[in-house]
Amino acid sequence: MGWKLLVENSFDDYHLLTTHATWLDYLKSSGVEIKRPEKGHVLPSHGLGKDLGNGHGTTDNVNFRGRPVAAWIPIYGDAARPELERIRAELVQRLGESRAKRVADTNRNLVVFPNLVLLDGSSVSVRSFQPTAPDRMRVRAWALGPVEESPLARQVRLDSFLTFYGPGGFATPDDIEALESVQIGLGAYKEVQWSPLSRGIAKEGEQLNTDEAHLRAFWVQWDKLMRAA
Ligand SMILES: [Fe+2]
Repeated sequence: MGWKLLVENSFDDYHLLTTHATWLDYLKSSGVEIKRPEKGHVLPSHGLGKDLGNGHGTTDNVNFRGRPVAAWIPIYGDAARPELERIRAELVQRLGESRAKRVADTNRNLVVFPNLVLLDGSSVSVRSFQPTAPDRMRVRAWALGPVEESPLARQVRLDSFLTFYGPGGFATPDDIEALESVQIGLGAYKEVQWSPLSRGIAKEGEQLNTDEAHLRAFWVQWDKLMRAA
């Protein structure tokens, strides 16, 4: 599985509450209000999972935590609040209310088949990974920002990136632990041959970001190419 597990990890939204419970606890203890999911749902906000064809796919969901552009939360610090409000006002003025809301208050995790990921959540970042062995890979990530941003906005953006991603972040070490554990577990493939990805499979129409249609689309495309080869 190796690198393909990181594809799954990069655009599966439902692991957030369980795998990243430590991060969410940190947010809550820092004064970030996160509402409980409605009964029968996994996440506090609803969103879509989209199969974009040819193995590409994305999640698209309403943000329920901070976004450096431009949804302030207490961990960004009081000093940053007016700056984020200014950025938001600029977005509204330039794009109109509804488009500005789309930019400031929604997240997307996009997988460009097979191994390029654009993460637009705790920061905007680009991630790519190459296998170096069946059970090893090299991961690279870049945090993107606007050239005209102020030093304060840059600090918020980079802090937000590093609070979540990377070896010192709250999320990446948990993700790596989960990936390594799954990789070891999959070594038992002679006894358990399938990794089920059936969430949402019986639904017609729209798939939630917590369903697995977009993950299945990745695997179907990979399988198609491997069989052709
Ligand atoms: Fe994660």
